[in-house]
Amino acid sequence: MGRSIEQILEKENPKSVLLVCGKSFHHQELYKRLLGAIEGVGASITEFMDFTPNPKYESVVEGVEVFLANRCDFIIAAGGGSAMDVAKCIKLFWNMDKKENYLKQKITENKVPILAIPTTAGTGSEATQFAVIYYEGTKQSVSHKSCIPDYVVLEPSLLESLPAYQKKVTMLDALCHAIESYWSVHATDTSKQYAVEAIQKILRHRKGYLQNTEEGNRGMLQAANVAGCAINLTQTTAGHAMCYKLTTLYGLSHGHAAALCVQVLWPYMVTHGEDCVDPRGTAYLQTMFQGLSEAMGCKHVEEAIAKYRDLLKELSLPSPVLKEEKELTILKTSVNPVRLKNNPVKLSEDAIEGLYREILHLV
Ligand SMILES: [Fe+2]
Repeated sequence: MGRSIEQILEKENPKSVLLVCGKSFHHQELYKRLLGAIEGVGASITEFMDFTPNPKYESVVEGVEVFLANRCDFIIAAGGGSAMDVAKCIKLFWNMDKKENYLKQKITENKVPILAIPTTAGTGSEATQFAVIYYEGTKQSVSHKSCIPDYVVLEPSLLESLPAYQKKVTMLDALCHAIESYWSVHATDTSKQYAVEAIQKILRHRKGYLQNTEEGNRGMLQAANVAGCAINLTQTTAGHAMCYKLTTLYGLSHGHAAALCVQVLWPYMVTHGEDCVDPRGTAYLQTMFQGLSEAMGCKHVEEAIAKYRDLLKELSLPSPVLKEEKELTILKTSVNPVRLKNNPVKLSEDAIEGLYREILHLV
């Protein structure tokens, strides 16, 4: 961290660079600078843009072929979550047996470095060992510590051209990462320090960020990055487990859906301490919620929950509306049980349905 693109390339001295990015990256000033820096070390560059949001396994396979055909020895991932996911999978898969499905093979570490340049302040993917791709329509989580990017460049100007909705919801994604990480059953002193730092940075920089100031954009990129460090240690919890179907059913962005889930989950968990499943017990749960409130700059839990609700209200985001009753069944059966296990309070199927009803303003 802290090194410039030029310094990183000089240090690594690659011969052949694979740049994984979206087409919009071409319009950025940083793109030209990147090309100049790669040329400056005498390396060749191959771009890989052939992937979609929620990237498919087939795209990664194609990316691996491009990587091998060009004998790449350095990967740059510039983008939001998808470019990072694809780049991480290329790094993890390129040395595997091409005749077998990569997802079924054991990952063996390799030394190809990844430089990550996030173009949104949200996913924190540049700080995590996780990648998500889709195989035959099913979500696959790939996880290995060797795909945590070796270098990260946080460039505030990349956020200037983002649409307002995108800016709001990526910020909310980062905020939910920090909050969920803080209350996760896997939270440690270290992960909580990251989470607190992220929450405080988000609260401090949100106005400047939404007004597109350089300081605000820089602060939010740092916040999302630190929130990424937090979830890298703890993973996310029920907020993220519950949000995925809301995105597909109602066309909400990931961060927007996660924020709506956290908004109802937080008060539910505070009032259902008897269902605590965190091995540290209910007394810990209370202290933890108090600590989270203080991270939000509040004296009491209720105050922190209200502050969070007001923050969401300020953003004037549209609310999802139920079209048919059967959507509730689809929603409550969609929740990923693995992520639910990270949640400190047990959620029964009825509780989950109740929370979705609240999100959809049916109660
Ligand atoms: Fe997220």
